[in-house]
Amino acid sequence: MKEAVTIRNLNHHYPDGTVSLEDVSLTINEGERLAIIGQNGAGKTTLFLHLNGSIKSTEDNVLIFGENVRYMPIEKRIEKVGVVFADPDDQLFMPTIYDDVAFGPTNMGLPHDEVERRVRNALETVGLIGFEDRVPHHMSYGEKKRAALAAVLSMEPRILILDEPTANLDPKNRSILISLINRLNKEKGITTIVAMHDVNAVSHLADRVVVLNTTIVADGDAHTIFSDGELLKANNLEAPEIYKLFRILDCYGYTCCHQHPLSAIDAPPAFDASLDANGGSIHLRKNNSTADEVQKVMDTFEY
Ligand SMILES: Nc1ncnc2c1ncn2[C@@H]1O[C@H](COP(=O)(O)OP(=O)(O)OP(=O)(O)O)[C@@H](O)[C@H]1O
Ligand SMILES: [Mg+2]
Repeated sequence: MKEAVTIRNLNHHYPDGTVSLEDVSLTINEGERLAIIGQNGAGKTTLFLHLNGSIKSTEDNVLIFGENVRYMPIEKRIEKVGVVFADPDDQLFMPTIYDDVAFGPTNMGLPHDEVERRVRNALETVGLIGFEDRVPHHMSYGEKKRAALAAVLSMEPRILILDEPTANLDPKNRSILISLINRLNKEKGITTIVAMHDVNAVSHLADRVVVLNTTIVADGDAHTIFSDGELLKANNLEAPEIYKLFRILDCYGYTCCHQHPLSAIDAPPAFDASLDANGGSIHLRKNNSTADEVQKVMDTFEY
């Protein structure tokens, strides 16, 4: 399997001395769907800035498809890695949406026809056909967010990085965005890396979850990470609400025959497995220790 991202012992501090990354080592294979979670200030955005070469490490320790990112010319870098930043206003800077989405392909030196094709495709993908002549700062936040994604998609990057992709989106647009990211991963084999605080969406977007707290403190599947209450508390994180509910159901004698779900969509298989194993019914009960058990779950997972 090809390594899309290879980071070896990466350290970073800002000029004012703030240590943002310490001895970070991480390998992400091509086609993986990875989520990076971590408290505010954990270093997620700083790590992304290293991956697209906006911050250059002084050592040869950030590789993209085996190539040292710090020596890659910009035209090559942007066709390999696209980062959609959390705030679209950091990304959109041209007079019109067309110009913003065309900026990358134009700078890659692509012929005019190809630039046009890519802009149309990218705007179509994010549902912004008709917005070509709009002024970015006269658009809603959600529309700008989609435009910022289009500005990255037009470069057709092999690695798509999204910083807080679902933040401030309405439920429909959040769901459309999640489907889009997954489609790009599944149909085009694009490696997708997201940083998010929206733990309820993590299992929709990632098979592997990395917990960052200046350094990498955990790396595993979403279920392993979210079932570790101590890890979550130590890193100012939380488990998805539905997972917590199932942990409470355990206290009432729910016989679990399946991994506890991390989102509502995974709840029916969990219930089905338990019902199948229990003759078609689930019985909940309450005894003298139930309240204490519930309190223990609360203490583990709630702040
Ligand atoms: N330009 C800068 N100068 C100095 N320190 C910075 C700068 N940018 C970020 N930092 C610091 O680096 C650390 C990591 O910040 P970073 O933005 O990477 O965190 P993050 O995980 O993305 O946080 P959030 O979840 O709030 O977006 C923080 O302590 C932050 O204050
Ligand atoms: Mg950030």
